[in-house]
Amino acid sequence: MKTRATELLGIEHPIVQGGMMWVGRAELAAAVSEAGGLGIITALTQPTPEDLVAEVERARSLTDKPLGVNLTILPSINPPPYADYVKAIVESGVKIIETAGANPEPFMDELKGAGLKIVHKCTSVRHALKAQRIGVDMVSIDGFECAGHPGEDDIPGLVLIPATADKLEIPFIASGGFADGRGLAAALALGAEGVNMGSRFMCTTESPIADEVKKAIVDATERDTELIFRPLRNTARVASNEVSREVVQILDDGGEFEDVRELVAGARGRTVYEKGDTEAGIWSVGMVQGLINDIPSAGEVVTRTVREAEQIIERLTTLSA
Ligand SMILES: Cc1cc2nc3c(=O)[nH]c(=O)nc-3n(C[C@H](O)[C@H](O)[C@H](O)COP(=O)(O)O)c2cc1C
Repeated sequence: MKTRATELLGIEHPIVQGGMMWVGRAELAAAVSEAGGLGIITALTQPTPEDLVAEVERARSLTDKPLGVNLTILPSINPPPYADYVKAIVESGVKIIETAGANPEPFMDELKGAGLKIVHKCTSVRHALKAQRIGVDMVSIDGFECAGHPGEDDIPGLVLIPATADKLEIPFIASGGFADGRGLAAALALGAEGVNMGSRFMCTTESPIADEVKKAIVDATERDTELIFRPLRNTARVASNEVSREVVQILDDGGEFEDVRELVAGARGRTVYEKGDTEAGIWSVGMVQGLINDIPSAGEVVTRTVREAEQIIERLTTLSA
């Protein structure tokens, strides 16, 4: 499948594995890339910029196909050294960066100067247009269904994707709610050049998280997520469990961030992935878990998604015959 996204990224299939905190490590990213998609290593999962360079090298030892790095720039009281991570990304030699959160403008010259292609992930048409204006190469438009931060507009992909296609000139891929060939075919029909998937790749054999979490995703339905931090206008879609429901309740009752700080601590979330205790803290997953029914290899996800999409597209062409 050739699209503007496969051409731009130098990959075989229009499928990207989005940045995932604690999940986007070398094994998973390399497996996606090796299968012809684009695997992405998550910068901030690595404790230091030096560790990030080493992680990219580790992925390189597993595949010689293109790889990307995700840099998520979020407001924070003690922000990580973003500029140092950008330097490490350049030094690592990857040629693709996925930026998310804040606008990547402060780093554009450095990234472009080093020959990187910049894919900016955002959740609204206006932010996509801004990204185009500052010179990013491609947008990843993340609908309300998505795991992680869906923004505050609540526009699902079925509207957001064609709305983006109507306005944007640079290529874009669709993100949020994609897990199979039906989704890929639909994204292409709606005007995207491919898909970005998070939850689907999180639930694969190479995903470096406890099996209990993958099993929980298989068992869950599309209804089993919560939107936390809504009253703080920093919404995040996470798995529904005792902790996330308590966070929703406290903030809905007028609580402040300080009242939930301990419940949402990153260390607790990390325990979920490492120990497999799905009630230990907050962990990200999207509504699309309702469509995830198995734990295949990441390569199998890529190949079967493309195969299914091709079959659907072929079947659809017969409708007008
Ligand atoms: C466990 C997990 C962690 C994530 N962490 C990040 C992150 O650190 N930065 C980011 O930009 N997106 C993050 N995301 C969002 C994904 O990159 C992607 O946009 C999202 O999963 C798409 O929705 P989907 O899960 O329905 O495919 C995360 C998603 C998951 C499932």
